[in-house]
Amino acid sequence: MKPITKIEIITRSEKIDELKEAMNGIGVAGMTMSQVYGCGLTKGHKEIYRGQEYTINLIPKTKVEIVVCEVPVDLVIATAKKVCQTGKIGDGKIFIYPIANAVRIRTGEEGDIAIMDPEK
Ligand SMILES: Nc1ncnc2c1ncn2[C@@H]1O[C@H](COP(=O)(O)OP(=O)(O)OP(=O)(O)O)[C@@H](O)[C@H]1O
Ligand SMILES: [Mg+2]
Repeated sequence: MKPITKIEIITRSEKIDELKEAMNGIGVAGMTMSQVYGCGLTKGHKEIYRGQEYTINLIPKTKVEIVVCEVPVDLVIATAKKVCQTGKIGDGKIFIYPIANAVRIRTGEEGDIAIMDPEK
């Protein structure tokens, strides 16, 4: 079984459409998105969100979770960096996790096959 990896990208919500398109373009088959509130290392620094300056450190962000086995993890990371990097405070973070198993509920398939594109 090929290793399965989850890439979690927490970034600016305004980057999400572009990120979704870019991930589609490299063959990412599925993703989960959620609205989250968070803060990073830059406590004490003020982050601007929609023209408003936040002194409290919980800023709305979007979290994108992508699980891959065939699409290279490095390519997913490089694509996320390309789309999300503005160079300003608050561009976000990428976390990488090994995944123990995956199950496609409809068929009961497990492992790499559960997240592969059946067309390929
Ligand atoms: N150590 C962490 N653990 C969990 N979530 C984190 C962590 N660091 C950042 N995040 C999440 O990522 C989001 C974006 O982080 P952010 O871009 O502010 O990171 P940073 O390290 O402060 O970098 P920057 O200097 O660019 O602001 C946060 O709002 C939070 O949701
Ligand atoms: Mg920060």
